[in-house]
Amino acid sequence: MHIQHPLMSTRRSSPFNVAATKQILRHQEKNEETKSVLIRKPFTYHTPSPGSGFPHNTLSVVVPSPSQRQILELASANFIPAPSPIGLSETFYPTDAYEKRAVKGAYPTVRKVKRAEISFEVGTVGPLLTSKPDITAQLRQTLQRKLGKIRGPKVTFAPGDEHLLARFAANFEFVNEYKIRQGVTPVPEEFNAGCTCVGFCDPARCLCLSKEEETNDSMVPYKRAEDDARLLVLTPEFLKRKAMIYECSSRCGCDERCWNRVVQSGRTVRLEIFNTGNRGFGLRSPDRIRAGQFIDCYLGEAITKEVADIREDIATSQNGHSYLFSLDFLITEEDSKYVVDGHKFGGPTRFMNHSCNPNCRMFPVSRNHADDYLYDLAFFALKDVPPMTELTFDYNPAWEEVNKVDPNAVQCLCGESSCRGQLWPNQRKAKGMR
Ligand SMILES: C[S@@+](CC[C@H](N)C(=O)[O-])C[C@H]1O[C@@H](n2cnc3c(N)ncnc32)[C@H](O)[C@@H]1O
Ligand SMILES: [Zn+2]
Ligand SMILES: [Zn+2]
Ligand SMILES: [Zn+2]
Repeated sequence: MHIQHPLMSTRRSSPFNVAATKQILRHQEKNEETKSVLIRKPFTYHTPSPGSGFPHNTLSVVVPSPSQRQILELASANFIPAPSPIGLSETFYPTDAYEKRAVKGAYPTVRKVKRAEISFEVGTVGPLLTSKPDITAQLRQTLQRKLGKIRGPKVTFAPGDEHLLARFAANFEFVNEYKIRQGVTPVPEEFNAGCTCVGFCDPARCLCLSKEEETNDSMVPYKRAEDDARLLVLTPEFLKRKAMIYECSSRCGCDERCWNRVVQSGRTVRLEIFNTGNRGFGLRSPDRIRAGQFIDCYLGEAITKEVADIREDIATSQNGHSYLFSLDFLITEEDSKYVVDGHKFGGPTRFMNHSCNPNCRMFPVSRNHADDYLYDLAFFALKDVPPMTELTFDYNPAWEEVNKVDPNAVQCLCGESSCRGQLWPNQRKAKGMR
């Protein structure tokens, strides 16, 4: 086939045209049977050639007709499909050409620019560019927001110590109840019996209260404070006891104003977190606290003993503060199941330090009397505490006198004349705070 000016054409008509060829090929591609038909009975091809009336100044394409043999060859030829766009195909990715161009363009010639004619305008500078962002102020705000989530009277941090506290704020969340983690299963409330009292509980008959072993008398934990009838405090007898406090619950007949609901009613004193200087942060209150007054509960993640052991090893290896509190009051250390970890999630009491002569003590308080493993770790003042006095408790109340201080134990810095010199016997394997 060739393209030529109609005036130069040697033939006046052609039995073959391009469209017909395409049609044959398409048929072949689709249907083998059609192909055999085409071979046996070739078409009569016709190309309209410019006749005598054809305008001489127009161009036309003349396709010479193929021979009979060519027609048969074309008809029986295997159709070769166009190559599919394969990634490495030179057709689609002419790498050579690119490489050549890349070599040439490796050092592009510099375009000449008259710099003086290019205007350079600086817009108004934003506050972030004019002054360094105050990260501490932002962290302080975060801490304020987090402190604001704590239920009850205000919890603040001492003015001046905010910059120290701000750093920890990014990595800590205050909580108002235990965060129950995997493997910790609270006993359903339905297993709790409750008392049959109506309105206010009768101290003599309330079934929630435990009984004295010898006399079978009810052990009444709370009484009204001498100087404030609205305030309920632990009785002096109970302050000396090491017994679980059984408070009333939703399963009881009494209502929510019942006197036997002190801990569940929440904190009544304000608290302040401050820098002790030698023992990290500590806790105190701007309010006067009466002997026997409830302060707050120790909160955090309720985790299994196995998880706690792993976390403890990490804390020990990093020489960090410990925030693990075993829930083993009613059972032996070996049989205990759960531990409260106040490291990442906790309440203000996770800042309470140890003292060998403490002014507070932890009392276990149960609401679901059917659950020996999950209960509240409630702090009460052992004596009257003047405002701004550091609140402390004994991390190891079952301490047995030792002859000499273990050099591997965490050194106690309580500063009391009766100081034992160490927080825990050997490392942290003690009952209670560990
Ligand atoms: C529950 S935290 C108390 C809050 C802690 N001070 C803080 O800054 O987060 C317990 C840790 O405080 C430190 N601590 C508490 N009482 C201490 C004392 N009397 N002497 C030395 N360190 C004490 C120990 O590092 C202990 O592991
Ligand atoms: Zn009752
Ligand atoms: Zn009750
Ligand atoms: Zn001490």
